[in-house]
Amino acid sequence: SYLRHVDSRKLMPNGAGHIPHLKAVILGEALASEEDDLVLPSKEFSDQANVHSPEQYMEMYKRSIEDPDGFWSEIASQFYWKQKWGEKVCDENFDVRDGKIKIEWFKGGITNVCYNCLDRNIEAGLGDKVALYWEGNEPGLDGSLTYSQLLNQVCQVANYLKDIGVKKGDAVIVYLPMINELPITMLACARIGAVHSVVFAGFSAESLAQRITDCKPKAVITCNAVRRGTKPILLKDIVDAAINDSAKDGVSVDVCLVYDNPVALKREDTKWTQGRDIWWQDVIPKYPSTCPVEWVDAEDPLFLLYTSGSTGKPKGVLHTTGGYMVYTATTFKYAFDYKPSDIYWCTADCGWITGHSYVTYGPLLNGATVLVYEGAPNYPDAGRCWDIVDKYKVSIFYTAPTLVRSLMRDGEAVRYLYALMFTVYLCEIDLRINAFGFWIRYVTRYSRKSLRVLGSVGEPINPSAWRWFYNVVGDSRCPISDTWWQTETGGFMITPLPGAWAQKPGSATFPFFGIQPVIVDEKGVEIDGECSGYLCIKKSWPGAFRTLYGDHERYETTYFKPFAGYYFSGDGCRRDKDGYHWLTGRVDDVINVSGHRIGTAEVESALVSHPQCAEAAVVGVEHEVKGQGIYAFVTLVDSVPYSEDLRKDLILTVRKQIGAFAAPDKIHWAPGLPKTRSGKIMRRILRKIAARQLDELGDTSTLADPNVVKQLIELSDS
Ligand code: PRX
Repeated sequence: SYLRHVDSRKLMPNGAGHIPHLKAVILGEALASEEDDLVLPSKEFSDQANVHSPEQYMEMYKRSIEDPDGFWSEIASQFYWKQKWGEKVCDENFDVRDGKIKIEWFKGGITNVCYNCLDRNIEAGLGDKVALYWEGNEPGLDGSLTYSQLLNQVCQVANYLKDIGVKKGDAVIVYLPMINELPITMLACARIGAVHSVVFAGFSAESLAQRITDCKPKAVITCNAVRRGTKPILLKDIVDAAINDSAKDGVSVDVCLVYDNPVALKREDTKWTQGRDIWWQDVIPKYPSTCPVEWVDAEDPLFLLYTSGSTGKPKGVLHTTGGYMVYTATTFKYAFDYKPSDIYWCTADCGWITGHSYVTYGPLLNGATVLVYEGAPNYPDAGRCWDIVDKYKVSIFYTAPTLVRSLMRDGEAVRYLYALMFTVYLCEIDLRINAFGFWIRYVTRYSRKSLRVLGSVGEPINPSAWRWFYNVVGDSRCPISDTWWQTETGGFMITPLPGAWAQKPGSATFPFFGIQPVIVDEKGVEIDGECSGYLCIKKSWPGAFRTLYGDHERYETTYFKPFAGYYFSGDGCRRDKDGYHWLTGRVDDVINVSGHRIGTAEVESALVSHPQCAEAAVVGVEHEVKGQGIYAFVTLVDSVPYSEDLRKDLILTVRKQIGAFAAPDKIHWAPGLPKTRSGKIMRRILRKIAARQLDELGDTSTLADPNVVKQLIELSDS
């Protein structure tokens, strides 16, 4: 492969003179459409890799499919089980036609995930190894915890939770930013068998209230405020509003434990409810730093995580203990080619599944050193990530395509500056400008030599972003693990194994061990060979979710009924002639904004809650940085005129009800929406209008009122 041998920095001595190459090679534009371009791992990388060849992968994969019980029980035996599982490693009914869907792994096995993350590793001699590095939003603010120190702190929180009456099976809501106390709280819950439900601290009070009402937690754990970038976010105010809201639905919260974060807000400025609120720092240090483990069944719940669906309220995805533990640990080890000397950084927030499986559980189960970063990736400038990489000698860096694209865009700005500088340089006017140029080379001014594996998750990574990540960030020597998976799957499903085979930029490549992806047509018939269709999974895997909290019927209807006999992912997928998988995005009414999953129905229901909004229809539209943007068609109640203030107010309503990340990028005034005679909104047409593909509207003759489309097009640019 040509690209493999390109050392991007050699192309830019002084940052000038090679701009055409930079454009073609670093930004990958020249090859962007050539999907067959193969990027191979270097021989040195493959030689040291956990899986070093396609043959080794094939052998392990074959065994995982032909003898799943043997394959997974061998791996599971590496963990501590107080009591081994019963006769069956896996007991499943994966086909709705045969009755209720049931997935059980290692049933009867008694274990504890926190014990396996901490005590087991300490017993193996890792007590003094750093478990968590913490890097604050402000450069210079940092900290670290060894495995032993982490265990002590986890035990103190666990003892406190027990003391306030939290028992095995009780829910605890966690609304914390990315500080060490977030994984500490998760592990403390796991230690005592409580079920944590982490809510991303970017969700609004209403979204938080909805989750509190649904799972009725014994306690809410939060922080008074946090700074991300320059912005302070008053988390405690949001929690107060949410607790008040859920009280109206009859769900009361008796304890709110608040971590005091003086960098963001003073104690005395924090609003307080006596009797309910308690400062973390006032109580936690008083508790003993040892705490006996609550041994639980492999099928006891570990956590609940709410995620968006195509309809209705968010779904409480429930993961259990044993299978999730074995699966996250194994996927982490192989997909990132983990070695004990690695320093690992995943930029995801623990409020999403990535932060559960690949900030907390997967890495700690492997005894890894994990970096937790509190701040924004571009604060104080777009070089912060690489500054952090150099500071901690990060060797595995896992992020989302949206971040790659935004950092790439900042790099673009630099490229234009270089063009300018080059001109200036030729004129020999001022060499100092070149020194300034070095400073703003956001990526290349840092060494990044410690990096050896890169990872991507959350949405399809476009080939040009892939190449920039590979060539510029990874200096054309770090394989990229483009991991396809979901909240529901618990861990990686389709992912490169970095040392094993050649990669194609933009393809998630092949299935992980034990995973049987199939592509089906509209009728649910499996299609072989080169094809496109709906991505489904045949048979269960240890990390699969077991139900939707309190709604097993919705679980079956959403995931197992669309194509009986399979788990339906909601994603479209193409398989190429070499068997590589190319994810093409959601095929349902879910949109993926900056890797955040948002149901169009949720945004619509927020919009129509505005008194002046009669109807709304939301679609996803391509966005240069976010992957997808939110495009909302809004019909106002009679005689209300369109106005800029109203547009802003509608956006604010969504921010308040869901969170800032769900704010529509565009409000398109719609006197009417295109509907069939039976009243169904034809989103296909709306998607085309939003994408300005006006000559691809297709057949509009079945619309109740075809004029509506004309009006919408006329109002496109208003
Ligand atoms: O559409 C797929 C996309 O993200 C969805 C899952 O979102 P969520 O449950 O929030 O989990 C995100 C982190 C695992 C999927 O249905 N997705 C995730 N990873 C990829 C992806 N699409 C393409 N390539 C990926 N690597």
